[in-house]
Amino acid sequence: MKIAVIYATQRKSKSSTYNIAQQFIQHLSDKDTVAEFFLPKSMPNFCRGCWNCFTDYKNCPDYNYLKPILEAMLEADLLVFTAPVYVYHVPGQVKAFLDHFGYQWMPHQPRKEMFSKQALLISTAAGAGTKSALKDLKDSMTFWGISHIYTFGINLHAADWDKVNDKKRLKMQKDIFKLSLKIKTEFKNVKPSLKIKMLFYTMRLMQKKLKFNPADTQYWETQGWLGKERPW
Ligand SMILES: Cc1cc2nc3c(=O)[nH]c(=O)nc-3n(C[C@H](O)[C@H](O)[C@H](O)COP(=O)(O)O)c2cc1C
Repeated sequence: MKIAVIYATQRKSKSSTYNIAQQFIQHLSDKDTVAEFFLPKSMPNFCRGCWNCFTDYKNCPDYNYLKPILEAMLEADLLVFTAPVYVYHVPGQVKAFLDHFGYQWMPHQPRKEMFSKQALLISTAAGAGTKSALKDLKDSMTFWGISHIYTFGINLHAADWDKVNDKKRLKMQKDIFKLSLKIKTEFKNVKPSLKIKMLFYTMRLMQKKLKFNPADTQYWETQGWLGKERPW
């Protein structure tokens, strides 16, 4: 399957999240395309709050950084995000990245393509915090319209990958294999969950009644979603 990976940091050999992601990719890519992006290099700026994207996402001052990442994400069957826990949450560069995609949250201009993708979110911590870091990512995935979201969070009691003990590595290998099988089984058969459908219909009603942002309403109209068309 085609995979787009957004790594939270530029660490590679020493990074636990990077090495865990590599194991998943080996099981899942089947020699298909793997597009990899490393934060903050691939998207080094914070959102300026200019609101341009809510009218036209191409007017974002960072669009030159976002374009190749967006294209790879739209092309992919599976989105992979890595996030080491930093002070109980995702690293700032991951939050800054996600902020740039606020316009494609479901109340605004969600992408049809997202409704048929899967997402895998990987987080490691020394001792605690993967749950809240994974939630940071999961909120965006849900509001992007992704139903099949898998999380892999683990406390490693280590700062570097080579310091992770053998027992933990072995257990992880087994868990990674099991979760990869699940992702493979769902591939080609991704259908939106009831939760995602309910979110969509709530947002549709909002577009019909409230018309908060004319650009959003026009987008929904153009997609045909205010009529009979659906993104799935
Ligand atoms: C700035 C910073 C903040 C961190 N905050 C936490 C934390 O809140 N809880 C925790 O258990 N580990 C924390 N850690 C440790 C990392 O989450 C942990 O070592 C992780 O496995 C590193 O992933 P990586 O090897 O992919 O970089 C922090 C590390 C850094 C550099």
